[in-house]
Amino acid sequence: MTGPSRLVAGIVAVVLLGGAAIAFAIVWRPAIAAIEPPGPQAFDAALVKRGRDLAAIGNCNNCHTVRGGKNFAGGLPVPTPFGTIFSSNITPDAETGIGRWSEEAFRRAMRSGFNREGQHLYPTFPYDHFTNVSDEDDRALYAFLMTRQPVRAAARENQLSFPFNQRFAIAGWKLLFLRHDTYQPDNQQSAEWNRGAYLVEGLAHCGACHTPRNALGAERASAQFAGGDVDNWHAYALNDQSRAAVPWDADALFAYLRDGFHPDHGTARGPMAEVVGNLSSVPSSDVRAIAVYMAGVSRTPTPDRKRQGEAALEQARSSSGPASQANAAGASIYATACASCHESGRPLPFGGVNLARSTAIASPDPRNLANIVLSGVQAVEGERSPIMPGFANSMTDAQVSALLSYLRARFSNQPPWSSVEKTVQDARRAQTAFLVKSPAPHGAPADPQQREKP
Ligand code: HEC
Ligand code: HEC
Ligand code: HEC
Repeated sequence: MTGPSRLVAGIVAVVLLGGAAIAFAIVWRPAIAAIEPPGPQAFDAALVKRGRDLAAIGNCNNCHTVRGGKNFAGGLPVPTPFGTIFSSNITPDAETGIGRWSEEAFRRAMRSGFNREGQHLYPTFPYDHFTNVSDEDDRALYAFLMTRQPVRAAARENQLSFPFNQRFAIAGWKLLFLRHDTYQPDNQQSAEWNRGAYLVEGLAHCGACHTPRNALGAERASAQFAGGDVDNWHAYALNDQSRAAVPWDADALFAYLRDGFHPDHGTARGPMAEVVGNLSSVPSSDVRAIAVYMAGVSRTPTPDRKRQGEAALEQARSSSGPASQANAAGASIYATACASCHESGRPLPFGGVNLARSTAIASPDPRNLANIVLSGVQAVEGERSPIMPGFANSMTDAQVSALLSYLRARFSNQPPWSSVEKTVQDARRAQTAFLVKSPAPHGAPADPQQREKP
């Protein structure tokens, strides 16, 4: 080789080696030594109790417990645009769970998304939020999980196509989207607001459902809380683009998040019902803090939005308006099947809100409304909670579609939905029974002292 070409080759080699070293540093983490499972007596009871509440706020059970299965034994299929990922067994079983994980290994998983062996974990496990969690809270979560019943349940194989089935590819995702920050308080705000921000942005990962995602499955930072998708549901916008007719405030948010119902907004259903089921069992001060912070996220609505909401409520009072003339089929189904509960001012459990107050009807797509009409709203065992029958067996897709289009025209000021019939068909296919509120499904029973029921 001549002088200059040797120089070029040298530079190329250095660049390649440097690149490989950087890639290696990002991709590779050492395994953290396995420990002897510490056993439940190794943990302080107060710490375990705190960990229980934190686990409820983090919805660990919603993803790590299969309905009807053993607590935290994993195996839940989580659908993503790239394929299906199965949640892990996070009971302290030594062979198939996290029994041999040290607290350090657990904290590394929560903060940086690595398993004990040093492999990357898929961000379906919402560590892009959990990275925010403090050392003390991770310690309490660890104590709670390590004192659960160990369950022997081997991991299920993910169903992902190439290249998404290559765990090292997650390194690139992390480089682009994972921010390693524990929460930094904002001194301009109250302690309560800061507590709420810490929980919402971190452990409670509200944005994981309520923020739209980009093509690589990461939340779009520029559209935080602008509305997202989860399973067969739309998680409504909660920022200033909220479509709620009556604007949300801290008190309404508190009632909705704690009890799953507020007279100006109606009930929480589907995946949100599971979130509420968990929040109803944690200290009310934490739910209050979340509500205070979220009230700031939704901000004072623009005069335009306020007018729209008021106009929708006004328009809904008239049952002989243009909507009814344009869609006689929908109008007559509503009058016979729905109005007696939704317009008569009947008390709970059967009285539904005036539908002009329902975000489901003002929502950008009709999925949630189709789910509600087909499946209804189920009562929670032993509680005086809202009940609505499902209409899946008594209405055809064409009837449900006519009804949905009518509700949209009569109870919102939004343009008509397109592809209502297709949405109804999809909803019928995906239909599963869901609860208004699931009973606290944790290993440790909820503290009855903390459940203030109305
Ligand atoms: C939205 C669903 C979801 C939620 C909520 C969730 N996880 Fe997970 N978690 C997963 C999935 C899916 C995996 C498997 C990821 C993989 O295989 O790469 C996982 C993996 C883990 C792991 C790694 C286990 C192992 O053996 O590698 C730990 C630890 C964990 N989760 C703890 C928690 C804790 C603690 C909470 C609550 C604070 C929680 N998760 C909440 C979906 C979730
Ligand atoms: C697992 C996904 C998921 C998570 C996590 C989640 N939500 Fe939701 N949320 C939803 C869905 C889906 C709906 C719509 C439910 C319906 O139609 O009843 C919803 C509805 C809501 C509504 C009602 C909005 C309206 O205008 O009617 C509020 C408020 C809300 N969520 C707040 C929160 C907060 C605060 C958190 C975090 C503590 C949170 N959500 C976490 C999925 C989620
Ligand atoms: C037996 C009484 C009853 C009947 C009949 C009934 N509903 Fe309901 N509905 C309820 C109750 C109770 C709720 C829960 C409280 C709430 O959210 O309004 C509810 C909730 C809803 C919601 C959610 C409102 C929100 O955003 O929280 C919609 C939409 C709805 N019903 C539509 C209908 C339609 C359409 C029909 C007719 C096909 C119907 N309901 C028939 C009692 C009833």
